[in-house]
Amino acid sequence: MITNWKELEFRCKNCTKCGLAKTRTSVVFGYGDVSSKILFVGEGPGFHEDVQGKPFVGRSGKLLDAMLEEINLTREKVYIANIVKCRPPENRDPLPEEQELCINWLRNQFYIIKPKIVVALGRIAALKIIDPDLKITKDHGKFLMKKGTWFMPTLHPAAVLRNMSKKAEYQEDFKKLNSKIEELGIDIL
Ligand code: URA
Repeated sequence: MITNWKELEFRCKNCTKCGLAKTRTSVVFGYGDVSSKILFVGEGPGFHEDVQGKPFVGRSGKLLDAMLEEINLTREKVYIANIVKCRPPENRDPLPEEQELCINWLRNQFYIIKPKIVVALGRIAALKIIDPDLKITKDHGKFLMKKGTWFMPTLHPAAVLRNMSKKAEYQEDFKKLNSKIEELGIDIL
């Protein structure tokens, strides 16, 4: 594992391990506070993220910001990363082999951040980092402890934007996150 964040970022930004390197504009390494105890993990960059080099800056990101705000968080107080760091063409799902080739960057980010809580945003992230048999519609909002870290799958903001009747469930999940933050006595500065 690389222990220096800047070195990790530099190496990741020069990665050519998979085909997505050929079509990307930027490597979207992540955003936020590296010393935060809360890590959010999305699926992969979309069009706007690829252009700006930052995660969740499009419409999904606006909803994520609003959800964070409801529990007195901001993206500056957490860390936000993705399973794959480069945009899949036409925003298709990242292929299993792309996820597998990219996941070590996230593992190394996790190793340095040492979060107490990891929130998987959407099915793809939840299956990859929590449980490959998980059912997002049934299991979202449920916390699971793995090796001393709490993991919670929730919906992807884009899925909520497609079906706003899911908004109330989404708000419930963020309330559960807030309760877990309080239960664990995590300081949000
Ligand atoms: N969707 C994701 O999963 N990640 C992003 O960074 C943006 C949109």
